[in-house]
Amino acid sequence: RAVPERVVTNDDLSKLMDTTDEWIRQRTGIQQRHWAVEGDSATGFSLLATQRALAKAGMEASEIDAIVYATSTSDHFAPGNGVYLQKALGIGTVPALDIRTQCSGFVYGLSIADAYIKSGMYQTVLVVGSELQSTGMDVTDRGRNTSVIFADGAGVAIVQACDEAAGSEILAWDLHSEGEHAGLLWVDTPGSIYHPRNQAEHIAEGKGFLDMDGKEVFRHATTRMPESINAVLEKGGKRAEELALLIPHQANLRISEMVQKRLGLRDDQVYNNIQRYGNTTSATIPIALDEALEQGLLKRGDLLAITAFGSGFLWGSALIRY
Ligand code: COA
Repeated sequence: RAVPERVVTNDDLSKLMDTTDEWIRQRTGIQQRHWAVEGDSATGFSLLATQRALAKAGMEASEIDAIVYATSTSDHFAPGNGVYLQKALGIGTVPALDIRTQCSGFVYGLSIADAYIKSGMYQTVLVVGSELQSTGMDVTDRGRNTSVIFADGAGVAIVQACDEAAGSEILAWDLHSEGEHAGLLWVDTPGSIYHPRNQAEHIAEGKGFLDMDGKEVFRHATTRMPESINAVLEKGGKRAEELALLIPHQANLRISEMVQKRLGLRDDQVYNNIQRYGNTTSATIPIALDEALEQGLLKRGDLLAITAFGSGFLWGSALIRY
């Protein structure tokens, strides 16, 4: 994982807009988050996270066969960040696939890596979730329902083929979309549907900022995530009590708590760190996974579930024997 150095507290935000530390903690669980400074980039965070992952795995960048890069906040409108990371890593002309499935980005990205590997197409796939949300936040009263939630950072996983004796395996997938709700959590502009694409009025009207109907997102997220975890447990022939760890997308601590309750999981079965990071969109799961591994919460052979829900709506889960 890699996050910007700058820490932004709730009190810092209350100096920019009409909000309080108490409101943010109570409604979201967030205490602080990392926000970029000039010169930082989502590509830069993903490069640092990849270098750290390679060091942990004792691998060279040249061993990576393909990059699957999830971000909803790419450095530029086009091309996506995958190619910039490929260049920064200096790893020849390996394929770089950008996906834009927002908060579900890491789950969808991992499913692509799993399919690439199981089909024999590639052996070692770098899956990235990296975001720089803060430059797109409306830090006035108008944007207070989103700007206190979203944050910056990256997490990556190097996914590699292994023989059965190693025991690690992705056991089951569950992936969904429901586009009729796209307008409940979206960034309207710039969009090619508009003629011309970039319009000064859109910027003035705030259409370039992330827009969210928090209550509706909350309602759908707390239904879809438990449903999806139950689906992968059933496909994998496992029960919730067998899970060593569930890492839910860190959207809001209250959402995670409700998911936990609906699945009947103990506190020690669910990992949350939104208190310190906010919602880093596609990066929340790999950042949390990295912390959980550091804390020794997972050992080889343990059952891990990851689940995400977000803009699209898109959601999904994976059941993994770590
Ligand atoms: N500080 C203070 N007050 C705020 C605020 C903030 N940062 N943001 C919103 N409010 C106000 C609203 O203006 C509203 O005021 P009003 O009653 O005078 O109109 C009041 O708080 C309640 O707003 P509401 O949006 O109904 O609050 P809520 O209890 O639903 O909580 C969220 C808002 C955003 C925290 C909550 O809906 C949520 O977490 N939703 C899910 C969001 C999410 O997870 N998104 C990411 C998914 S990937």
